[in-house]
Amino acid sequence: MTAPEQARLTPVLTRRWASPRSWDIDTYRQLDGYQALPAALSVVPGRVVELVKASGLRGRGGAGFPTGLKWSFLPADSPKPSYLVVNADEGEPGTCKDIPFMMADPHALIEGCIITSYAIRAPFCAIYIRGEALHAIRRVQHAVDQAKAAGFLGRNILGSGYDLEIVVHGGAGAYICGEETALLDSLEGRRGQPRLKPPFPAVAGLYASPTVVNNVETIASVPAIVLGGSDWYRSMGTEKSPGPKIYSLSGHVTRPGQYEAPMGTTLRQLLESAGGMRDGIPLKFFTPGGSSTPIFTTEHLDVPLSFDDVAAAGSMLGTTALMCFNETVSVPWAVWKWLEFYKHESCGKCTPCREGTGWLVQILRRVVTGAGTLEDLDTLTDAASNIAGRSFCALGDAAATPILSSFKYFRSEFEDLVTGRRPPVVPERSMAEA
Ligand code: NAI
Ligand code: SF4
Repeated sequence: MTAPEQARLTPVLTRRWASPRSWDIDTYRQLDGYQALPAALSVVPGRVVELVKASGLRGRGGAGFPTGLKWSFLPADSPKPSYLVVNADEGEPGTCKDIPFMMADPHALIEGCIITSYAIRAPFCAIYIRGEALHAIRRVQHAVDQAKAAGFLGRNILGSGYDLEIVVHGGAGAYICGEETALLDSLEGRRGQPRLKPPFPAVAGLYASPTVVNNVETIASVPAIVLGGSDWYRSMGTEKSPGPKIYSLSGHVTRPGQYEAPMGTTLRQLLESAGGMRDGIPLKFFTPGGSSTPIFTTEHLDVPLSFDDVAAAGSMLGTTALMCFNETVSVPWAVWKWLEFYKHESCGKCTPCREGTGWLVQILRRVVTGAGTLEDLDTLTDAASNIAGRSFCALGDAAATPILSSFKYFRSEFEDLVTGRRPPVVPERSMAEA
């Protein structure tokens, strides 16, 4: 059985999405909803942590850090309360899984929050949602209200003696607030800028208290793990990247959207489900996990999309945002557009990223308008190499990535533009008019 067939037969994360009023608590409860919660509350919190550890669940926000291990980092003897913060600030270009998730099945997220908060003994949970996604903020708030009215939140949940409050917090539209420590600063009411790590949030997070920060898809996976068990969860995906995953397919794809499939599914298999490349124009390059991850080409169509397999092939799984570009797309143009995004979103805290992203955009602009030189290409690689690894947070590395990875496979396209072998992608005149 191919992976897409398996995914169609056994959807886990998206299994309620097609149901009428899937976002409503009644629908959720008819479809196994809030069944995992009493099971979790009936055992000691440490058992829940052990179960999630045994499942092998890895963070779905991009980095793939083992979830149960992260929970177990919280000091047991801290005099301060622990907190759970859900990172719903989905902003990585091409990533569209968490906001659709919250729209379709917000109660799976809420139930996951309650179980996780119980596991880490947190009396308070904040869900930080990207500010532009007002519709998702409203939907999750509505779900919180419904859960509270049904007795799943508040004091003495289901008679267990456990109390929990969930607050839904809207961001203000800054990409950097998806970085967990910038998110915490923003949540505390300050300008969102990354903090120095360590200490990691597990030790000193929200209000300097032990804090678990997890992505929406990660937390929403927890009720299914509690109900199904770790062996069942591990029966999907690969040994080191178990479980199902929501892949976002975008770009020149016949049916773009969210596709659930086991970890380790290939882009070739996902494209089968998505109707292939649009208008039959072949694929040229793609990102395995958003623009922060090194690009892949057609030679990577059969790389299993798991954390380790993608890393072994020279990229990162990231958010599994598969942006697919066909042969009509100029690589230098795509890189220029990505760099404009990073320049705009740089928080300005450190010099390599604040200044460097501006220089990279200026040089790329010369290249795509046909005004660049071969020396410019050396400056691009030199500047990008000096931003990567020398910036305060991962945004600097992310900005360097499109340049460094596209030069690996498509340097000749850049050379053709600066030597006049290819016409400019963007005439300088249209730039002036823009
Ligand atoms: P990271 O690898 O630094 O950390 C991952 C997680 O593990 C964090 O929660 C961190 O606190 C925790 N951690 C790591 N080492 C630890 C230790 N020794 N003790 C305690 N906790 C520890 O990665 P980061 O910077 O959090 O995320 C980078 C990823 O985010 C990128 O790979 C990118 O794909 C993704 N990303 C996702 C976006 C989205 O919209 N979902 C936006 C931008 C980037
Ligand atoms: Fe801010 Fe960029 Fe430095 Fe990160 S790398 S702290 S986003 S300036």
